[in-house]
Amino acid sequence: MNDLKLQAARKAVEFVEDGMVLGLGTGSTTRLAVDEIGKLVKDGFRLVGVPTSIETERQARSLNIPLSTLEEVGEIDLTIDGADEVDPQFRLIKGLGGALLREKMVAYYSKREIIIVDSSKMVGVLGVKTPLPVEVVQFGHRRTKAALEKLGCIASLRGGDQPFVTDNGNLIYDCKFDAIADPERMDSDIGAIPGVVENGLFIGLATSVIVGTEGGAVIRERI
Ligand code: 5RP
Repeated sequence: MNDLKLQAARKAVEFVEDGMVLGLGTGSTTRLAVDEIGKLVKDGFRLVGVPTSIETERQARSLNIPLSTLEEVGEIDLTIDGADEVDPQFRLIKGLGGALLREKMVAYYSKREIIIVDSSKMVGVLGVKTPLPVEVVQFGHRRTKAALEKLGCIASLRGGDQPFVTDNGNLIYDCKFDAIADPERMDSDIGAIPGVVENGLFIGLATSVIVGTEGGAVIRERI
């Protein structure tokens, strides 16, 4: 599986050009891409990265990739990030790595968002395999959980008795639906619940998906 991730990561980094501002995603697949970006910097490319998590920031610093913030850079030329599920319309579930809020903000301000996955992440319908992560504020979070479950899921607090706390100081509920038949509607229903900060549905943000397959990396562009 790591080979497939590496193929996708390397193919995505072929789109990096000297002088670009890059969004740096989070997760094990993106980690491989950030390693490759580090090699470009070593070779003399003048790049600036905007990391989507403290974890990615640490990795990028260790590779001497110059960093900036969303406030400081204008537009982001290209973001490379992973995903947990990708459907045929390039709608995504993200956030099993816990970085969905910053990832979605960086994606929103990116001219191009390349998603890198191995073939196991490609699905017909979102939510059948993985839960949908939802980031919520700590205040009243059990009430927020109950409101989420009214949408038809079982919501589990990530980390249980020792809750996982995001880089933004919030909690995550992993919401398992049987399937998410209407992601746009679900996105808006979840967004309407007070206490929800962000959810892991990424709609209309991915411009390309690169899939690592046994036969090589396959690039798919949004039509
Ligand atoms: C982190 C994410 C990751 O991109 C997603 O979980 C995929 O990770 P991996 O490449 O390790 O499978 O959304 O918040």
